Amino acid sequence: MKLLILLSVLAASAIASQKRYDGYQLFQVTPKDAASYDALARLSDSEVYDFWTDLRTIGHSTDIMVPPAYVSLFVDLMHAYSMEYRVKMVDVQTVLDMARDEQVAVPRVGSPRYSVTWDNYYDFNAITAFINEIAAAHPDKVTVSSIGKTFENRDMPLVKISTGGTGKKAIVVDGGIHAREWISPAFVTWLINELVENYAAHPQYVDNVDWYIMPVINPDGYQFTHDTNGDRLWRKNRKPNAGIGGVPCIGTDMNRNFGFHWNEGGSSANGCSDTFHGGAAFSEIESQNVRDAILAVAGQAEMYLTFHSYGQYWLTPWGYTSALPDDYTQLYTLAVSAVNKLTAVYGTQYTIGSSTNVLYVASGGSDDWAKGGAGIPFSYTVEMRDEGTFGFQLPARQILPNNEEVWEGIKVMAESLF
Ligand code: ARG
Ligand code: ZN
Repeated sequence: MKLLILLSVLAASAIASQKRYDGYQLFQVTPKDAASYDALARLSDSEVYDFWTDLRTIGHSTDIMVPPAYVSLFVDLMHAYSMEYRVKMVDVQTVLDMARDEQVAVPRVGSPRYSVTWDNYYDFNAITAFINEIAAAHPDKVTVSSIGKTFENRDMPLVKISTGGTGKKAIVVDGGIHAREWISPAFVTWLINELVENYAAHPQYVDNVDWYIMPVINPDGYQFTHDTNGDRLWRKNRKPNAGIGGVPCIGTDMNRNFGFHWNEGGSSANGCSDTFHGGAAFSEIESQNVRDAILAVAGQAEMYLTFHSYGQYWLTPWGYTSALPDDYTQLYTLAVSAVNKLTAVYGTQYTIGSSTNVLYVASGGSDDWAKGGAGIPFSYTVEMRDEGTFGFQLPARQILPNNEEVWEGIKVMAESLF
């Protein structure tokens, strides 16, 4: 009898357990020449190695998670190419456990006004509740709509913040395209709150521009990173695909699925890879919905800001080519002003430049499409904290400092349109 109870408890906990990362290691590696760089580029296409940060140019480091069965092979490869490397996390599961414990331990203080706060991370339902609550509290400024349903039938929310009037320029903002980058929705929801709830402190940011904000554009993936039977390190959406060699897999990298120079490098045709670009440009319902929502306001929109983590970069197009857009000087100059203000808050350093030149070619990004496809001139991808000490498990106590510093940059961005 006792054994039976024990067995059923074990079975239940096996069912209710997230994907485990026991023995997985996070390596920081630095290619020092073309040969070692190419070797890493080849690894990035495989589903075995999980690139937590994008491959960068020669001389810059990249964080790669390696499963236990591949650690010795990986280390051999590092030696074969005389690559500099260090182990940043000896056991990823330990880091996930610590982050979870910390999250559970955050005390609920007082009775917060809304369903989310910014001393902790929240799941998709809580974020949806928050959006509806703040819209109900501020019907004069906030309008909520759904841009469509996800593959798993979730509504994808769009928040319009406006004090009315015609002829205003608009800024389009999104977050949560990559499921595991939890700081992204945590920032974008905070931005909504700051614009609306703290309107009186700085009305110019709402009076002079209209905001179209989509806090989570990959709801299925994001929820999967929260689910007890999910995977905290999931990146893609959740639609099954043909996989590779007859083995089906799940998920398309939405930031490789946008239709401007789609599939022109830095994305994978392997449905099991974390950078799978999908069966065609805009093959995914979620990227279609985002495309259509942006096109609906493209005439008004002058700026597109998409939030990711991690690495601390303020990136401009293009991601598909090392060539620069004609107006690169304007894009770059504005980013420098924004980052100067950002850095002044806590000293956090950001690297500025075009995605391809700062990182590595990666086509099908939403930023490239927003500029090249939708014609929105100022398009940026912002990779927020940190530089890989915690990576995707950015401690909840860093949410507010992150948001406060990024807000300083956003203010500069918005002011450029006044
Ligand atoms: N880390 C982001 C990604 O991999 C960077 C995207 C930059 N933009 C681009 N078009 N490549 O999706
Ligand atoms: Zn990302």
